[in-house]
Amino acid sequence: MHEEEQAIDRFLQELYESGVRRDEQTQENARKLRNITPSTGRFLELLIEEERPQRILELGTSNGYSTVWVGRAAAAVGATVDSVDQNAERHQEAKQNLVAAGLCSHVRLHTQEIGEFLAENRQQQYDMIFLDTDRRRYAQWWPQVRQIWTGKIVVCDNATSHPDEFQPLLEILDQDAWLDHGVLTVGRGLLLIRQRNEARPTGTFVSLEVPGQAGEVI
Ligand SMILES: C[S@@+](CC[C@H](N)C(=O)[O-])C[C@H]1O[C@@H](n2cnc3c(N)ncnc32)[C@H](O)[C@@H]1O
Repeated sequence: MHEEEQAIDRFLQELYESGVRRDEQTQENARKLRNITPSTGRFLELLIEEERPQRILELGTSNGYSTVWVGRAAAAVGATVDSVDQNAERHQEAKQNLVAAGLCSHVRLHTQEIGEFLAENRQQQYDMIFLDTDRRRYAQWWPQVRQIWTGKIVVCDNATSHPDEFQPLLEILDQDAWLDHGVLTVGRGLLLIRQRNEARPTGTFVSLEVPGQAGEVI
């Protein structure tokens, strides 16, 4: 493995472990980092390398743990990442982490409320959108998310850890003949959504068991 990649792997591992410790010591939910699991990060990386989206949007940056995974894959395929979070303190940390990982030139951080970002960026087009934020608002945001999405891939975290919160979005997706969706049991569960391709058989998303890594918090 390339030295630079190994250094980022070590950085990611330390960042994840310190995030877990921080969250364990933090009582207030809003102050927790709530990072994706390492297996989710690796899955996102493989997905980006396979699908090669050119423009990626992440909704929910926190301190940028997931952004480093996504940013590294984006750099490998020549893509750019926009990542949105309303928490300025978290974004300061995310910036530092992206600088430390050498990925700053591939990622733009937007310190903004997501509803506002979506309203202001109606003209943008993203091939891949990763949602890891306020799940209770996914159904409300969906029309705008769909409008700025080219149809390649949408990924939402926490589909199996918080299934009830996904019901309103799933009801919308079930009504949309243009779309295909399914849940992979990676990390806390990933809902994958893609444009239905008539040439591709439907229902091709299968439940894929990927065992969590030691120390993962569900
Ligand atoms: C689960 S954390 C993201 C974790 C991050 N993806 C990672 O794995 O490192 C969710 C983030 O969404 C942000 N958030 C929640 N509601 C938001 C909103 N309406 N607009 C912008 N950010 C929001 C929170 O500030 C929090 O940092």
